[in-house]
Order: sequence, then structure tokens, then C-alpha cells
Amino acid sequence: MFANKSTQHQRTKMNVPHGPIFYLEDVSVQFGEIRALKNVQLSVERGEIIFVTGASGAGKTTLLRVLSGDQEPTQGRIIRPQMSGKKSLYISNVFQDLRLMGKYTCEENLMFAYDPALYTSKNEFITDMQELSRILGIRDRLHLKVSEANGGLKQKVAIIRSLLTRPDVLIADEPTSSLDTENARRLFDILNLYNAKRGLTVIWATHNKELIKSFTGRIIHLDNGRLVYSGHACFI
Ligand SMILES: Nc1ncnc2c1ncn2[C@@H]1O[C@H](COP(=O)(O)OP(=O)(O)OP(=O)(O)O)[C@@H](O)[C@H]1O
Ligand SMILES: [Mg+2]
Repeated sequence: MFANKSTQHQRTKMNVPHGPIFYLEDVSVQFGEIRALKNVQLSVERGEIIFVTGASGAGKTTLLRVLSGDQEPTQGRIIRPQMSGKKSLYISNVFQDLRLMGKYTCEENLMFAYDPALYTSKNEFITDMQELSRILGIRDRLHLKVSEANGGLKQKVAIIRSLLTRPDVLIADEPTSSLDTENARRLFDILNLYNAKRGLTVIWATHNKELIKSFTGRIIHLDNGRLVYSGHACFI
């Protein structure tokens, strides 16, 4: 999957420029009476792995939507220093509702991610797809229609589809809610691998504070719309 081929389109850690990719300056988001985010200051560096935690309604999805550009702040601003020009970063999102196509099989959903500009051949894409499916233990279930798949299978398909687009930044909203600890761990192993080999930046919202304690990365904790903690998992 990570053969040492140097193609024009392969994004390897070697050529990943460092530096911030997002700055949030005093960002608030208001929905009518509700302030979903309150004066959030945040800087995200390229190549970081960040877990966004907080209780239901704390503002995790809203923060991710601001980072993705789906939600404009109602106060403050977001600056994306590396998101303009020819070499702008590609962000892939895994949404809470996954957005898979139910009438197609899991494999067909994955095939939709194929972009000839990113792979030397379709075979290379298929090799990646099979390898990721093997690591996550779903190769024998790829023929199932998404409408027949359970929650865990759907979450894995959504993550694999996202990775197959070879993003620079992966923004994922509760992608492990239907997975047990062992499966969530496998997923993190893959993300760590992409982080190490390709410089993938990961921003990952989850309720599961216990699970992420054992992973390397930064935790951002939201409480009622406020960013109340930013630091390493082992200190939480
Ligand atoms: N489009 C919207 N319109 C009105 N209120 C909204 C909207 N989106 C979010 N909210 C409200 O903003 C607050 C933060 O919601 P958000 O979805 O960001 O929380 P969350 O941490 O992702 O919660 P969960 O863990 O349940 O997914 C909540 O009170 C929610 O009801
Ligand atoms: Mg949410």
C-alpha cells in the first residue's frame, strides 16, 4: 500500500510543508438562541492528530463543520493559510451520518472514490482498497449492499472511502461510535500509518475519552461550546 514509488501525485511526508493549516480567532457560532461555539481560539498544525471530545451538544460537530468550511462563524474568523493556490490542501470529511449510497454495495461505494489523477493505475487503487479492507477485516463483506450493512461495517467503509481519496486532512465526526475497542484500535493504527507515511492531518471527534487516552495526539475538549482543554491525551 505504501510502496516507495514517487509519482507526481503521491503526497509523501517528505514534501509536506509544516506550519498551521487552520487558525480560529475568537470563533463563535450562534443558532438562534443557542451558542454552539463560544470564542474558540485554536491553531492546527499540519501533520497533527487531534481528538475533539465533549459531551453531546458540546459543539464538536459545529467545530468540525467550521474547519471543513461548511459552517461560517457568526463571530470571529477562520484563517486557512495553506488552503489557497495551486497546491491547496485537500480535506476529506467523514460525517456523522456517513453519507454512503444505500442501494450500492460497499465495494461500489469504495470504487466511487477512484480518481485517476491520484493513482498510477486502477490496479494501484484496488490494491489500496483491498489492503485497507483486509486490515479492517471487511474484505468478505464488500459485496453487501450498504442498506444491508451494520453500523460498524458502514463506518469502516466510510473511513476507507475517505482515505482512498488520499486527503491531506481527514476530518471525521464520531467515526467509531459503532465499533468495539479492538476495531477502533485497528482504525487508529491505519490513521497513524497514513500520518507517518503521508503526513495526513487527522481531526477526529469522539465521545470516547477512554479509548483515545492510549493514542498519541492532542485532545481538544469542548464544554458547552467553550474550548476548555488543549493538550496531550496522557494528561487528561
Ligand atoms: N443547525 C443547527 N441549528 C440549530 N441548532 C444547532 C444546529 N447545529 C447544532 N445545533 C445546536 O448546537 C449545539 C452544539 O451541537 P453540535 O452538534 O455541534 O454538538 P456535538 O458535540 O456534535 O453533539 P453530539 O455529541 O450529540 O453529536 C447543540 O445545542 C445543538 O442542538
Ligand atoms: Mg456531533
